[in-house]
Amino acid sequence: MRRVSRPVGDNKNQTAALHPDIARVLLTEEQIRERIRELGHAITRDYAGRRLTLVGILKGSVMFLSDLMRELDLDCTVDFMCLSSYSGKESTGVVRVMLDLRESAEGRDILVIEDIIDTGLTLSYLMQNLKTRNPRSLEICAFLDKPDCRKVQVRAKYVGFPIPNEFVVGYGLDYNEQYRNLPYVGILKPPRA
Ligand code: IMP
Repeated sequence: MRRVSRPVGDNKNQTAALHPDIARVLLTEEQIRERIRELGHAITRDYAGRRLTLVGILKGSVMFLSDLMRELDLDCTVDFMCLSSYSGKESTGVVRVMLDLRESAEGRDILVIEDIIDTGLTLSYLMQNLKTRNPRSLEICAFLDKPDCRKVQVRAKYVGFPIPNEFVVGYGLDYNEQYRNLPYVGILKPPRA
């Protein structure tokens, strides 16, 4: 990947260089790290004494999940689902399950780990789907939330950061499968004509 040697943000602990396609950094590595620590503490407190099943939604939640689970002082297991509803920057509105859970959800405390809630269509579909499997509890932890974009109501118990209505990439989030490996969240430059 092409990188330039401009530091991201003015944070002393920020080590990554800004990708040339990124116009602006919305969340630095340090901000993300601190917020995930807080989320980890809250989840550890709320699920104390229970065995938690983290359900990571592929692919966008991978970085968030792997950092968050290190902050959990709990017995937990991890499973994955892969859903598809997006093409480029647009939600198609039609959600398809591309990969399902390996384990049964019945009687389990399920915490769905999602990268971002936008229209809410994906998670609304997923929550209805998982509810039919009779989990003991079912909640959502979303890294980002764009509340202004909702088409259907979805309630996330934990949210990393509410953000404005902008298309963001990095820290797991992609545009046409690119930029997932950026360690910060940024806004893309407009495409060149
Ligand atoms: P929703 O169904 O509209 O809530 O969209 C959820 C999914 O759309 C997320 O899991 C992301 O994969 C994708 N998505 C929505 N907004 C963005 C964004 O700003 N950047 C990258 N992916 C996004």
